[in-house]
Amino acid sequence: MNPKQIPKTMRAIVLQDYNSNLGRVLRSLSVQEKQVRLPAGDEVLVKMEAAPCNPSDIAFLRGMYIVARSVPVIPGFEGTGTVVAAGKTLAALSLSGKRVSCFSQDSGDGTWAEYFCVNAANCIPVREDLPVAQAACLAVNPFTAAGLMEMAISGKHRAVVQTAAGGQVSTFLRKMAGIDDIPVINVVRSDQQVNALAEQGEQYILNQKGENFTDRLTALSAQLGATIAFDAIGGEMTGTLLNAMPDGSRVILYGGLSGLPASNLDILEVIFHGKSLGGFNLADWIQQTTPERFAEISARLQDNMIRGELSTRIQATFTYDQVVRGLLQYVGNMSKGKILFIP
Ligand SMILES: NC(=O)c1ccc[n+]([C@@H]2O[C@H](COP(=O)([O-])OP(=O)(O)OC[C@H]3O[C@@H](n4cnc5c(N)ncnc54)[C@H](OP(=O)(O)O)[C@@H]3O)[C@@H](O)[C@H]2O)c1
Repeated sequence: MNPKQIPKTMRAIVLQDYNSNLGRVLRSLSVQEKQVRLPAGDEVLVKMEAAPCNPSDIAFLRGMYIVARSVPVIPGFEGTGTVVAAGKTLAALSLSGKRVSCFSQDSGDGTWAEYFCVNAANCIPVREDLPVAQAACLAVNPFTAAGLMEMAISGKHRAVVQTAAGGQVSTFLRKMAGIDDIPVINVVRSDQQVNALAEQGEQYILNQKGENFTDRLTALSAQLGATIAFDAIGGEMTGTLLNAMPDGSRVILYGGLSGLPASNLDILEVIFHGKSLGGFNLADWIQQTTPERFAEISARLQDNMIRGELSTRIQATFTYDQVVRGLLQYVGNMSKGKILFIP
């Protein structure tokens, strides 16, 4: 795009103030006309096509996330679009005109806007034939699942337990584990989710609210040799998992959907049964992954998505004016899939 064609202002969803109460924070969102910030140095300007809402966005709006930006601010951590202007560095210029999937937790404005100014290093080039919805949700969850799978494989774990198994990270992880023939014990929180996963052909599904959940988890993880769990919930679930799993097991916390501190851990299990707790953060994993390896994983994920073997489930798309309706629909049924905001 000719720089002269870039508009001076754009429409964006704006958060006026954080509030831990979801109802109140939704009233703090509005659509406003904002200045378009032009890219400098390593930055590029992305004309946005779509941006999803993830649990981290909800936590951010509620002021309960690791990232806090000065308000008023445009929310949104990831999305997709086309680079229409670039700063002066080679990294930025090399993305000119390219379709990208981008992700940023830096201090500035986010992706729920017509334009997003972001560091080139936070952009992943995407293929022209990758559907917009998949490109919008590429940068976070699929790579998270890939990173978690690497942990399971490198640790030689025979089977995996995962919580919040109706969600999108879990769906990717389940499919990836299937490719490597690693059984997955899926923990969900409703019978509806049990049925949904059973319909998809899943063999090991436990309802965390069901009778004898802990006993069933203990027996199944012993039977399958599940010595690693990926926990997105926290609260009592974290300790419950670790207590129930075989000696030497690891629980990897990568989300805090319960909003509660991890608890319920039997100290004797840690001291005398070699069990341990760890964490996973996508940004750290990317830092530790070589650019070549990252590009290889990105190419593989995009191939899988284009062939329809892997995908993020989308439940609905919304315009910016429908932001409140969209967010309410998402938090009311996260397992149904992501929502996308379309400019
Ligand atoms: N550490 C990292 O680098 C990293 C990267 C990506 C994602 N994450 C985290 O991974 C987690 C999953 O993300 P996602 O995008 O896959 O989520 P998602 O697709 O929106 O789905 C969330 C799932 O969690 C369930 N859930 C929500 N609150 C729950 C609770 N309190 N107890 C039990 N289950 C609950 C939902 O069930 P319902 O349908 O019943 O609500 C739904 O199945 C989030 O915490 C996210 O922040 C972390």
